[in-house]
Amino acid sequence: MFFRKPSPIPPLHSLPSTTSFSKTKDPHNNNKLRYTLFSCLFLASWLLVLRHFWFPASTATTTTTQQRQRHTTCHGSGPFYIYTLPSRFNLGLLRRCQNLNIYTNMCPHVANNGLGQPLQTPSWYATHQFIAEMIIHARLENHPCRTWDPDTALLYYVPFYGGLHASSMFREPNHTLRDSLAVDLVDFVQRQPWWKRHNGKDHFVALGRTAWDFMRTQDGPDFGANIFLNLPPVRNMSVLTVERQPWQGTNQFAIPYPSYFHPKTLPETLTWQNQMRQRARPHLFSFVGGTRKGLEKAKVRDDIVKQCGESKRCALVRCGSGDGKCHDPMKVLEVMSESVFCLQAPGDSFTRRSTFDSVLAGCIPVFFSEHTAYTQYRWYLPTERDTYSVFIDEREVGEGKKGIEAVLMGVSGEEVKRMQEVVIGLIPRLTYAHPNASEVGFRDAVDVALRRLSRLVMDQTGRLQNAQDLNTLTIV
Ligand SMILES: *[C@@H]1O[C@H](CO)[C@@H](O)[C@H](O)[C@H]1NC(C)=O
Ligand SMILES: *[C@@H]1O[C@H](CO)[C@@H](O)[C@H](O)[C@H]1NC(C)=O
Ligand SMILES: *[C@@H]1O[C@H](CO)[C@@H](O)[C@H](O)[C@H]1NC(C)=O
Repeated sequence: MFFRKPSPIPPLHSLPSTTSFSKTKDPHNNNKLRYTLFSCLFLASWLLVLRHFWFPASTATTTTTQQRQRHTTCHGSGPFYIYTLPSRFNLGLLRRCQNLNIYTNMCPHVANNGLGQPLQTPSWYATHQFIAEMIIHARLENHPCRTWDPDTALLYYVPFYGGLHASSMFREPNHTLRDSLAVDLVDFVQRQPWWKRHNGKDHFVALGRTAWDFMRTQDGPDFGANIFLNLPPVRNMSVLTVERQPWQGTNQFAIPYPSYFHPKTLPETLTWQNQMRQRARPHLFSFVGGTRKGLEKAKVRDDIVKQCGESKRCALVRCGSGDGKCHDPMKVLEVMSESVFCLQAPGDSFTRRSTFDSVLAGCIPVFFSEHTAYTQYRWYLPTERDTYSVFIDEREVGEGKKGIEAVLMGVSGEEVKRMQEVVIGLIPRLTYAHPNASEVGFRDAVDVALRRLSRLVMDQTGRLQNAQDLNTLTIV
């Protein structure tokens, strides 16, 4: 069980109590955040009204007669086709949602197209960290670039809920059984006429779990994974995953973990960004997480928890068994939105959902491993890592080394301001917009992926869309 992430404590159906963290004893804090949320909402609705008058109608175009009339236009990505799979590969799995994860009942999490249970403020949900595959599926179904005519598609989306299936089979000792649905899927897809055109190079899947869960090898350790990503046809496809295998995952592209904000409109997003710009941030840094006993990759966490606990400038939210605080979305966001820097240490795997929570809270992430973000989210994050993050090599943390606090104190106020602006600017593209919104008004995580995939497929297959598409595609 090397890479397994423990699942959160059961769902939060509403915003729970107002008890504060050990270092944030101010009872107004929660109210402040709620006030922020509510004023966001108010402003958002107002902006929506304005927008209606400024842009009364959006033009609808259709490329073929088969393509259903949409109210919106496809910008910047080639048309994609969604395979209709037998339901055992996706929605059918949800029928036994109690058994989709060996640690937790997934039923509340798969609700609302994978957004999970709504929080008190509209557009906010207690979204499970490993559920991106469902949100992406729902979002693509309503996406303006979708075509119903497979012959006109540039991209082919295979809506397989591979992550949910994998986590239901971690403890299946019979490997043939554990792998069988993935093997079936590949059989199904390979039999489709559109597969043969480019040997699957224009096909993609999206997985809500890390690549490690699908890369069991003959002689490697058995930590519950299946062999999906090692099947030769899948190696020809593009695989979107919340964590790519940094060395072998050449066809793997890391996509953001879903956070809690799923806006339907640009004004909602702009309002939230502005709120985060104006936030007072009394904590220099914070860490939301626990330690991992005996896990070499997470050793740095011991030092982080120790240093944070000893510093007056650090807010520590410890995640231990039975402690729900660190799984309460609003608590997590609150402490992050009151911090300048948020420490992002590797845990069971290199990446963390927490990175995306911290960006959403306008908190500058501090990384300790290259593989927590830099070798992962290349489609999403600036190439210049210093513009939005701080890197402290994990080998430089510990007894007799320069402390984390000292490193962060060394960043000038001006630099902090600049980095915060970049971080807040990243919010839209790292967000999964509400799947039922077809014209969101900004480019979200799914739009970014579609553009990049379109580019990639045009390069790989030598296919060119018309010149106009090409122009928009170059502004990725
Ligand atoms: C999206 O719309 C459909 C159809 O109206 C509805 O069944 C579904 O619950 C909606 N999804 C969310 C997340 O609100
Ligand atoms: C594993 O499952 C397969 C498929 O159900 C079955 O044919 C095979 O006998 C099983 N192997 C073992 C060792 O039980
Ligand atoms: C993968 O693509 C290559 C061509 O790029 C092709 O030769 C090979 O047969 C494909 N593999 C599968 C399993 O389709």
